[in-house]
Amino acid sequence: MTILVFDSGVGGLSILREVRVILPGRRIVYVGDDAGFPYGDWPEAPLVERIVGLFERCLDTFDPSLAIVACNTASTLIMPALRTRFEIPFVGTVPPIKPAAERTASGMISVLATPGTVQRPYVARLIEEHADTCDVTLIGSTRLARLAEQHMRGLPVDHERLAEEIRPCFLERGERRTDIVILGCTHYPFLVHEMRKLAPWPVDWLEPAEAIARRSLSLIGHVDERNFSDPELSPDIAIMTRGKTDAPLRRLLSGFGLQAREPIDALAIFRDRQAVV
Ligand code: DGL
Repeated sequence: MTILVFDSGVGGLSILREVRVILPGRRIVYVGDDAGFPYGDWPEAPLVERIVGLFERCLDTFDPSLAIVACNTASTLIMPALRTRFEIPFVGTVPPIKPAAERTASGMISVLATPGTVQRPYVARLIEEHADTCDVTLIGSTRLARLAEQHMRGLPVDHERLAEEIRPCFLERGERRTDIVILGCTHYPFLVHEMRKLAPWPVDWLEPAEAIARRSLSLIGHVDERNFSDPELSPDIAIMTRGKTDAPLRRLLSGFGLQAREPIDALAIFRDRQAVV
């Protein structure tokens, strides 16, 4: 049984690591659309077309039993299109606004995400439905996903820039202050240790990875262990659409148990950032 995990880059690895814990034994195919990265500033219609086109080819080639869209920027936009078009179950990743609203003591929550995610009507609906008694601040960062990509490849983080990016999350109103920051982009958990050090006061940093893995388990958990793949015969692989995996990227992927592979021919068209099909 194969699970396809998809993101615009390597941020989806924060979801993959929980999937490994909660759904051991399943073969993983990780697809990172690094040629399209960052998704945060894409207009919506071409982004939908691009992602649907990518999925069409990936599902044809790898025939997964389940696909996880490990990207908030994509999931807050694309899930209806994917579910209409394809038959397999999909799990999307969206900012955990409901759990944050249930957990906050001060009632002040910040959602740190890409500019695309914070503008989505889907997120506005989540807030309306689950957090209407809370004070929710949305912060769209243009730089954080890129900072995370660099950091994950072993480059030092620019602390001043990082502090600047997270500062708007911290608000004080009279006696109350923000007590939860939602990491609404799958790249951000890889910066959370630094964020914690730079935060003006301690907060709870919430990310949805475990919930995504549990949701995936609920959809395919009934599968018999005898159907587990043999890692010798079908290793876990990663395909990045740019088709250029340098040594730091290969090292990162192999740290997550993924062998970097050349993109399949069907994905060649997506090497072009503008390509939509
Ligand atoms: N990892 C992605 C997310 O969860 C987005 C990064 C980007 O492509 O801008 O939103």
